[in-house]
Amino acid sequence: RAEVQAKSLALSEVMTSAGDFYRQQLRAAQNAIAYLKGRGLTGEIAARFGLGYAPEGWDSLRAVFPDYDIAALVEAGLVIDKDDDEGGRHKRYDRFRDRIMFPIRNTKGQVIGFGGRVLDGGEPKYLNSPETPLFQKGNELYGLFEARQAIRDAGYALVTEGYMDVVALAQLGFPQAVATLGTACTSTHVQKLLRQTDQVIFSFDGDAAGRRAARRALEACLPYASDNKTLKFLFLPSEHDPDSYIRESGAEAFEREVRDAMPLSQFLLNEVVGDNDLSTPEGRARVQFEAKPLLQAMPASGLRLQIVRGLAQLTQTTPAEIEALFELVQPVAR
Ligand code: UTP
Ligand code: MN
Ligand code: MN
Ligand code: MN
Ligand code: MN
Repeated sequence: RAEVQAKSLALSEVMTSAGDFYRQQLRAAQNAIAYLKGRGLTGEIAARFGLGYAPEGWDSLRAVFPDYDIAALVEAGLVIDKDDDEGGRHKRYDRFRDRIMFPIRNTKGQVIGFGGRVLDGGEPKYLNSPETPLFQKGNELYGLFEARQAIRDAGYALVTEGYMDVVALAQLGFPQAVATLGTACTSTHVQKLLRQTDQVIFSFDGDAAGRRAARRALEACLPYASDNKTLKFLFLPSEHDPDSYIRESGAEAFEREVRDAMPLSQFLLNEVVGDNDLSTPEGRARVQFEAKPLLQAMPASGLRLQIVRGLAQLTQTTPAEIEALFELVQPVAR
């Protein structure tokens, strides 16, 4: 147990030193500064999020870690260790090269990982730290450390897909934004957010991937949906993400989107109806079939009852029939 802790400590020290180095490198990197300016970011917001730059070289981190061969660098995911027999030019080399660096912090403020964006059209567009004992993507949200007070002030959290969405929203008046880290929104994410606030608004990209992300977020929310929590979904025009939308249409337009965000109940009903034909018995049965696992994932609540009523109306049945058909657990009578 003591050993694990010592290991985590070393990891976090490595990450912090690397973050300091990347930040320092950004000051002199004209290309990286020009890139960030081109995306509308100010120096102030870059500093607030600790943005940095990983230089082009294969072993730039030698400047910070003279003992470049220490296992901790590989374990931290900062250095890649290639097998000897692969015969590459470099046996060990920096994972992040010529990228804008977004440090990912845990709720204590420790740097636990990085996201790195290419400056041009290179692939992959974003490279993320691998999972380490300190960093589990399904548990962490980018920007949560920076956003905590703002979430309290605003009374809600915004959940986006990307690093740039969080930073742009913060710059343009929505510092209550966080992002999932290139993974689906998990129940752990939802739980973590609902410990900080009673209202979570999901704002994913308007493209097909964003709509799939919203559906998965809906499923992650259901076990935690209750009458004193508000969960909403904001759908942007298909060509936009929060960053591009707020830059093109402005903060007031985004504020209107927030205000008009779709409540979970409506999104759920839209999802289960899909393109089924409610005018036929088969279509209505299919809608019930789609709704069953979703409603079963919800604890008994007034909200669940409201959704059952909505579903009954759409499918020409009664709430009691739906509850019986879905074998929904009822709250214990007192
Ligand atoms: P997007 O694909 O929506 O990024 O991925 P984007 O909006 O085009 O990026 P910008 O605005 O040009 O910079 C959203 C998020 O998904 C993860 C990253 O966390 C990213 O912020 N992602 C995306 C990856 O992990 N790897 C990728 O190659 C792409
Ligand atoms: Mn993209
Ligand atoms: Mn996208
Ligand atoms: Mn974007
Ligand atoms: Mn995007």
